[in-house]
Amino acid sequence: MEKKEKNFSSKHSQTSRDKYDEKIDISSNMQILFEKHFIISNVQQDRQTYVLPQVESMFTEPPWQLNTLQKIKRDLNEVKGRLNNFNLSKWQQHTNRMNEAGEVVSMVRENIQAELVTQAWCKFYEIASNFSLVPLNEIYREVDSKSFKSVHLCEAPGAFVTALNHWLKTNAPDVQWNWLATTLNPYCEGNSYDSMIADDRFIRHTLKHWCFGADNTGNIMDLKNVDTLVKKSESLDSEGRILLVTADGSIDCMNLPGEQESTVAQLHLCETVACLHLLQKGGNFLLKLFTLFEHSSVCLMYLLSCAFQQVSVTKPATSKGGNSEMYIVCMNFKGRDYIAPYLCTLKYYYGKVPPVNAMFNLRDIPDGFLRRIEQCSKFFKFHQCRVIEDNIRTFHTRNNFSTSFIKRMISIKYLKNYRLKKIDSADEIVGREIIEKTNNQFMNKKFHVDSYNERCKSQDLEPEERL
Ligand SMILES: C[S@@+](CC[C@H](N)C(=O)[O-])C[C@H]1O[C@@H](n2cnc3c(N)ncnc32)[C@H](O)[C@@H]1O
Repeated sequence: MEKKEKNFSSKHSQTSRDKYDEKIDISSNMQILFEKHFIISNVQQDRQTYVLPQVESMFTEPPWQLNTLQKIKRDLNEVKGRLNNFNLSKWQQHTNRMNEAGEVVSMVRENIQAELVTQAWCKFYEIASNFSLVPLNEIYREVDSKSFKSVHLCEAPGAFVTALNHWLKTNAPDVQWNWLATTLNPYCEGNSYDSMIADDRFIRHTLKHWCFGADNTGNIMDLKNVDTLVKKSESLDSEGRILLVTADGSIDCMNLPGEQESTVAQLHLCETVACLHLLQKGGNFLLKLFTLFEHSSVCLMYLLSCAFQQVSVTKPATSKGGNSEMYIVCMNFKGRDYIAPYLCTLKYYYGKVPPVNAMFNLRDIPDGFLRRIEQCSKFFKFHQCRVIEDNIRTFHTRNNFSTSFIKRMISIKYLKNYRLKKIDSADEIVGREIIEKTNNQFMNKKFHVDSYNERCKSQDLEPEERL
């Protein structure tokens, strides 16, 4: 009997230790999920400021590569490559099930009942709360007006705008705010369904805030459309400086996953140059990027680190861990006077595909900066590979018991961390009920079900065989 008890008690303590270890594991995993941030430069902390090279030296030398970054890219692509034979729709179902933050969107919808709550809404709210993305110090500097404007690039269907409105109404209700947005025009017949998010449930009620440029396509990669946007932003009939620009552009890289970075490089340069034309001194910029392995991203990050006092990289908990998406948070713009000498050259290369030369010569970028980029790339690659490998391991087991518990914990933590509250329906832009009642005019035409390798094979077929 005694022996039995002893056995029971040691088994019991073993189980509680396992549970204890599991709890520690869950809580540290949760912490990691919410703390994927990396500071690239901070003038106040580093006590050094990066300086842009002479304008004449820009775009003069051929593209370069850094071996250290290429090695990280190869390692990441090797892990991503293990997914090539997975059926896409089954894989997506599995990763959705495994996504630890997968219940945040529905939890926010149910509990907060905000307008147009999407994954993008939750990502924006998280970044706005973790960083002082809305530069309240700068806004409050003007004692009388307390007003500012924001511009949102590549913004359909518009969830960054509704999330910003919600954040302001909850955190700074006395601030007067106006906004302008641009995106590939969902009403323009020339824009393909593959390249845009054709969801106009919010856009159709807020058309006067949307600018689709000189040619009505809304394509940010066309300089004349940016010129029109800048003019429209100046003529906005409200007070306040443009102190926030967001750029959330992406291109479907489903058929070239290993080269996502090069595919989107020009779009990201255009978004940045557009921002440098719009933003005013002291303002902030939020830019979505993917990886930082190629000269184009390293140069872009260097340009941003020179033009802003602080640059950080963050991957919100609500961004799916297995993809390379991350957000660059650029704070405290040095102003038009600082950047003006470079704008002419940047405009000259605007939208030119592919760029013949690298933006900066490698010798013009300090070693310390390159090391930070390398550390940052390693940091995000480590987390991404961990998630992909975990997803591969669990693909056949389908045991999602612990995931549903973790999902609940994470949704609760999200609501608590970012102090989400309902707002008065009078403070909404369009109104949740109106948006929910509105049918989307367009069907999303993108529908891939097979694996990457199967899609590659079908591309080589004759049209008849393909049919
Ligand atoms: C991820 S979505 C943006 C989501 C948005 N921030 C939100 O919160 O709802 C990316 C957007 O970029 C737009 N886009 C892609 N390429 C573009 C381009 N060349 N010019 C303008 N918009 C573009 C797409 O149409 C799509 O609406």
